[in-house]
Order: sequence, then structure tokens, then C-alpha cells
Amino acid sequence: LGNVEVDTSQIMPGQNYTTRWRGKPIFIRRRTPEMIAASRADDSHCKSFKDPATDAERCPNPEWLIVLGVCTHLGCIPHADAGMWHGFFCPCHGSHYDHAGRIRAGPAPTNLEIPEYEWVSDTVIKLG
Ligand code: FES
Repeated sequence: LGNVEVDTSQIMPGQNYTTRWRGKPIFIRRRTPEMIAASRADDSHCKSFKDPATDAERCPNPEWLIVLGVCTHLGCIPHADAGMWHGFFCPCHGSHYDHAGRIRAGPAPTNLEIPEYEWVSDTVIKLG
């Protein structure tokens, strides 16, 4: 009940596609090789992040980041391709997230949440 399937073949490299699931925005980002490399380069010091996680823990399939589009501070919707790490930026109080949705600066306490999802084919994700 409440499952949503998304055909990712329509999402271009670099694009942040937004859908809705259980009333919340879900960001499905098709990451470019440059985005993946930038995020993985920061893994070397990710233990010092506010909410430590490696890029691979966040994105088991490196080309794809799937997160709730809800700032973990007070729930605003972050902007894609913005902020100091060019991942996401929440304009409400200035939280900066990187290409893995990890919180890197600002008041948000945790990384963007990863919803329950699974790949049901090479190109289709089922949320929930
Ligand atoms: Fe995003 Fe406050 S709600 S920084």
C-alpha cells in the first residue's frame, strides 16, 4: 500500500528529479562521475562530519542518491545544486548538504533521510 514506482530512465545525468511519496518530496538524483568523485573524496574525513557516513553507505548504487527532500532541521525543502558543496541547500536557516545528502554545515542535525526503496528492474525504483 502506498508504493510508488519511478522509471529512472527519464532522469538525465546530473538531474535531481522530485517525486512524492507518503505526502513528502523525494529527491532522486542521478549523479555524474564528477559528483560521485567529489563526494567520495570527502570520505577520507567523513568521521568528523556531524552525521558520519561514507558515500557508499549513502549511495550503494553510486550513480543514484535517493533521499527525502526534507531538511532535517525544521522541515523546509532544500534547493538542489546549491550550497557550499553544490548538493543541496536549505534556505530557511542555511543548511548545506553534499552530493550524498550529508549535512556539512548549518543547523540541520542529520543527513537527508534515505527512504525505504528497492530496484525492481534495471531502471525502476519502488519506494516503500
Ligand atoms: Fe532547513 Fe532550518 S529548516 S535549515
